[in-house]
Amino acid sequence: MNVLVTGANGQLGNSIRKISEEYSSNIYFFTDMPEVDITNLALLEGLMKEKKIGAIINCAAYTAVDRAEDDAALAAKINVDGPRNLAIAAKNANAKLVHISTDYVFDGKCNLPLKETDNTAPIGVYGRTKRAGEVAVEEVGGDAIIIRTAWLYSEFGGNFVKTMLRLGKEKTEMGVVYDQIGTPTFATDLAYAIMDLLTKGFSGFTLYHFSNEGVISWYDFAKTVFDLSGINMKLNALESSEYPSKAERPAYSVLNKKKIKQAGVRVPYWRDSLIKCLDLLK
Ligand SMILES: NC(=O)c1ccc[n+]([C@@H]2O[C@H](COP(=O)([O-])OP(=O)(O)OC[C@H]3O[C@@H](n4cnc5c(N)ncnc54)[C@H](OP(=O)(O)O)[C@@H]3O)[C@@H](O)[C@H]2O)c1
Repeated sequence: MNVLVTGANGQLGNSIRKISEEYSSNIYFFTDMPEVDITNLALLEGLMKEKKIGAIINCAAYTAVDRAEDDAALAAKINVDGPRNLAIAAKNANAKLVHISTDYVFDGKCNLPLKETDNTAPIGVYGRTKRAGEVAVEEVGGDAIIIRTAWLYSEFGGNFVKTMLRLGKEKTEMGVVYDQIGTPTFATDLAYAIMDLLTKGFSGFTLYHFSNEGVISWYDFAKTVFDLSGINMKLNALESSEYPSKAERPAYSVLNKKKIKQAGVRVPYWRDSLIKCLDLLK
């Protein structure tokens, strides 16, 4: 199968590229801006025909959560029009689509792991655009999977783990919020989940939740990064109100992974995956 990967220079795109040789029966077309802009439907339709694409993995998104608050039009263009275009292009070419969404479609006001059937109520521009992108994909129809993930990190690009490692060299004391609860996701684990679902095949529309296993706060995540890296940091536990940001974040966004596990996907424990990523970053 010929597989088009969009947004391939980001964290997830690079993680798929890294493991793609383990799924060598496919031919991959890794694309990103400016050559392949997912907001350009005509370009996508042309590419589907020219490369005889059988599946699209969309790793492209507007992911700057705070910046989105002042940049709603562009965030919507990329996070809503983009996935809608991909769903249309996939449907017209009889191809499959795997699209990625986020825990930020929830308001975080619950205290039990969130299921795919739970009501969405995004509290910021990023979450609202990502939710509208989900709706657009489902409305187009066709064979599409949406995977909501959370707290993504990897050896590629910018992310929380790499920020902590940098701050570990610059500071001896810092604060991290302890009242936002969730689960990190090593992008390599998500990449395997995507490739396994694609290899098994699917038809119709399905929504899944995927993160690593376990439940922690950002404070615990930072503490573990420092401990595992041998960094001596005095870490202070902050309330979110002491660390104001432009966009409000959900206080609790642990995802329930039962459905994707029942589909045969492996969900590694967050600490085990963090150790693997830190090894890669050494
Ligand atoms: N990062 C997280 O913590 C997190 C959490 C939950 C869910 N997610 C979701 O997971 C997915 C992957 O996230 P990620 O962290 O891998 O994202 P990322 O590192 O920000 O990568 C996104 C890629 O998409 C590209 N892109 C932006 N606009 C595009 C367009 N119009 N056409 C084609 N490509 C475009 C970006 O290019 P530029 O860099 O040039 O803009 C970038 O290379 C996204 O759907 C995201 O919403 C992420």
